Amino acid sequence: MTDAPVIASADEAPALPILIVPHPVLKAKARKVLPADREAVQALIPRMFTTMYKAPGIGLAAPQIGVSLRLAVIDLMLDDKRAPVVLINPEIIAASDELATREEGCLSIPGLYADVTRPAQVKVRYEDAAGMRQEITGDGLLAACLQHEIDHLDGVLFVDHISALKRNMILRKLAKEQRLKAK
Ligand code: NI
Repeated sequence: MTDAPVIASADEAPALPILIVPHPVLKAKARKVLPADREAVQALIPRMFTTMYKAPGIGLAAPQIGVSLRLAVIDLMLDDKRAPVVLINPEIIAASDELATREEGCLSIPGLYADVTRPAQVKVRYEDAAGMRQEITGDGLLAACLQHEIDHLDGVLFVDHISALKRNMILRKLAKEQRLKAK
């Protein structure tokens, strides 16, 4: 797997602070990774994995660490085994009509969860860390994770998929917790 060398150094790379809502970068549409970004992105990837594993989370998008680029990392950690995936310029090229509802959370909305309904299966085209074009088809947790991370690149959070009532409840609760934490 082309991702393996990146991961070998992941634990040595320093973690980065994760932005919490309502940070404006989280609501911005990220721009495409260009060949000129390659070096910066290569340096960022191990730090994004460290940040995600430490949190811990199963996905992290670059806007969550304040970098508005179309880049995300995921690792579902199934059976407690690492299976890291780097998604550069990911695009959903097919989505099933069938929907699935799962409880989602987000490192940028810490400690709060809600049921989100999305297509049950998606096919995603992306470039890997080596710049090779790849495709991944996922259902279940992987489908939700892919869509959740790609949403981040468009400034969309999981709470944008739920009712305004529930969204406001979650965001108010978070704001209150953040205020208490700051005291
Ligand atoms: Ni998230």
